[in-house]
Amino acid sequence: MNFPEKPRSQTAAFLPLCWLLLKILQPGCSHLYNDRYAGDKVIRLTPKTEEEAYALKKIYHQLKVDLWQPSSIFYVSEGTVTDVHIPQNASQALLAFFQEANIEYKVLIEDLQRALENKSSLQTQRNRRALPEYNYEVYHSLEEIQSWMHYLNKTHSGLIHMFSIGRSYEGRSLFILKLGRRSRAYKRAVWIDCGVHAREWIGPAFCQWFVREALLTYKSDPAMKKLLKHLYFYIMPVFNVDGYHFSWTHDRFWRKTRSRNSKFHCRGVDANRNWKVKWCDEGASMHPCDDTYCGPFPESEPEVKAVANFLRKHRNHIKAYLSFHAYAQMLLYPYSYKYATIPNFSCVESAAYKAVKALRSVHGIRYRYGPASRTLYVSSGSSMDWAYKNGIPYAFAFELRDTGHFGFLLPEMLIRPTCTETMLAVKNITMHLLKKCP
Ligand SMILES: *[C@@H]1O[C@H](CO)[C@@H](O)[C@H](O)[C@H]1NC(C)=O
Ligand SMILES: *[C@@H]1O[C@H](CO)[C@@H](O)[C@H](O)[C@H]1NC(C)=O
Ligand SMILES: *[C@@H]1O[C@H](CO)[C@@H](O)[C@H](O)[C@H]1NC(C)=O
Ligand SMILES: *[C@@H]1O[C@H](CO)[C@@H](O)[C@H](O)[C@H]1NC(C)=O
Ligand SMILES: *[C@@H]1O[C@H](CO)[C@@H](O)[C@H](O)[C@H]1NC(C)=O
Ligand SMILES: [Zn+2]
Repeated sequence: MNFPEKPRSQTAAFLPLCWLLLKILQPGCSHLYNDRYAGDKVIRLTPKTEEEAYALKKIYHQLKVDLWQPSSIFYVSEGTVTDVHIPQNASQALLAFFQEANIEYKVLIEDLQRALENKSSLQTQRNRRALPEYNYEVYHSLEEIQSWMHYLNKTHSGLIHMFSIGRSYEGRSLFILKLGRRSRAYKRAVWIDCGVHAREWIGPAFCQWFVREALLTYKSDPAMKKLLKHLYFYIMPVFNVDGYHFSWTHDRFWRKTRSRNSKFHCRGVDANRNWKVKWCDEGASMHPCDDTYCGPFPESEPEVKAVANFLRKHRNHIKAYLSFHAYAQMLLYPYSYKYATIPNFSCVESAAYKAVKALRSVHGIRYRYGPASRTLYVSSGSSMDWAYKNGIPYAFAFELRDTGHFGFLLPEMLIRPTCTETMLAVKNITMHLLKKCP
């Protein structure tokens, strides 16, 4: 039942994989993404006063910088850390402006293109083997992830069932893995999604890691055995398939879906602002060019609609909703859209506390935890709030590693430690479902 993970021989590679590798990784083509990030920087600033915050918002808006953290200029305020990706042609003017205005900044990434192509942190050239010797310590393209899913569906039919819940804007299948033993007719279930935001590549890597661990350990690890016996896991490794694909082929830092807008050239909707829960209110943008654009109406995105339909249909037995994002190192629970405390706060809070403690026991990594509104920022129309409002009592969003040193470019060598610790947190949370919360 196990898959060998060590590379053995060069088996026939997949065509799409070959194509992608040739297209973006071959030395002949030399530069990833056509060298589009050459000279770009990522810098960190924390406005000290309201005036500074105002000035920053204005200049970020003018220069159309790409905010890494927080996700919108809306959230830029006094005392808030902002990580911002500045294009090469704007960096001189911007840094001069900061010096002039006496605003302190720190360069996180000196040259984004070089960081992207960093051989020591990207393993792209090695070990990218075809199945069954799947390497879980590299980032995988959408084609590779889908081939992996098909493969598991064939080889682990007793534990895994793969199906599609619809199609994306660009027509790609929205695949889910249902994981668990068919031990009885009625079982409670856990929903897990990754890759809602395209550029957060560690998410899909974690979803795959979760499945791998489950398959490798369910016989030897009593906790995993219990989980697969008593629960089903619905796992969606890549929620935003179009965006994820685009982040491999065109723009590494793409966040949204890829839907077109009738009035603007800008494409895409923030798939974590498009849900029908206080839709398009605070913390979401009505402008199609913004990274937190809420869309023309709730569930306008076919990906969101498909998942919402699925959750509505199965809400009687889905007891937990877990969504994986990056980066910030936080474990968040409702509400996102308001500061109020949820009913049953103590059950959810203690689940989060224990999960974070379990996570930290592995490599000492600290996660903050709490209601999303207070811990991260207020955002309306999020999937987590929607799941909670629709009767799923345990709704969580993880913001995985790191806290900005690599940001979205978390090196592949950190996939293992990140996933190992997160795994423990997820097991800890889901074990809660099997107990009664007072
Ligand atoms: C930088 O270049 C982009 C396109 O390459 C252009 O749209 C933008 O206006 C330029 N910005 C500045 C400040 O020159
Ligand atoms: C390249 O990656 C290594 C290992 O992750 C890191 O220590 C180094 O700072 C990176 N260099 C650049 C230019 O990003
Ligand atoms: C998964 O395998 C089952 C048979 O075991 C098959 O009926 C189903 O179509 C497969 N799923 C996909 C998406 O191919
Ligand atoms: C969850 O984590 C807490 C804190 O580390 C630990 O005491 C507890 O035993 C864990 N529970 C399970 C079921 O793993
Ligand atoms: C709160 O907990 C009680 C008892 O465990 C449960 O019946 C109820 O559905 C929970 N409510 C919410 C909103 O989670
Ligand atoms: Zn995200």
